[in-house]
Amino acid sequence: MFTQVKLPYAFAALEPHIDALTMETHYGKHHASYTANFNKAAEMAGFQDKDAVWILSNLDSVSDPAVRTALKNNGGGYYNHNLYFSQLSPNPAHEPAGQLAEKINSTFGSLENLKAELTKLASGQFGSGWAWLAANANGDIMISASPNQDNPISEKTGYIPILALDVWEHAYYLKYKNLRGDYLKSLFEVIDWNIITENYNAIIK
Ligand SMILES: [Fe+2]
Repeated sequence: MFTQVKLPYAFAALEPHIDALTMETHYGKHHASYTANFNKAAEMAGFQDKDAVWILSNLDSVSDPAVRTALKNNGGGYYNHNLYFSQLSPNPAHEPAGQLAEKINSTFGSLENLKAELTKLASGQFGSGWAWLAANANGDIMISASPNQDNPISEKTGYIPILALDVWEHAYYLKYKNLRGDYLKSLFEVIDWNIITENYNAIIK
């Protein structure tokens, strides 16, 4: 059974960057609903014993198109939000460490440049979707954007996301209205680069 990541902080802990009502609605309603619907779809596909990465990597093996779509949308919603909520902290480290820090500098020039490129992708994602920093087993990193609840796993890129920028309006509209750029700037204030570094270290072989 798939369960939402437990939040190690209160809904109000990320104020003023992310407001309590948005957190409560996003986690308690949107993410809860993706998770419940993912469990139903996984059961219909006979995938209860598989993990989410496996399911999102093997959507083509599901013959019923309605179940396949439900798995992609709700499995993505479940997985993407677990990553999103678990990377946030009221006391975040503002810089990555170790190999990831070196890789960011060699690939993007600097952390500031990576954040600017990621912000550009997230701002330019038309409609609902995500922007990602993702890594592969060789330690390479890349940035990309996805519509809806797609991600680099369901897109079969060979990369696993390690940082997630949710640009669905439900992530920011209550506080930021149409100002997605202001939300993204604030979101970076509560992204904990220690966690992004851990995510990277868990992927590289
Ligand atoms: Fe979301």
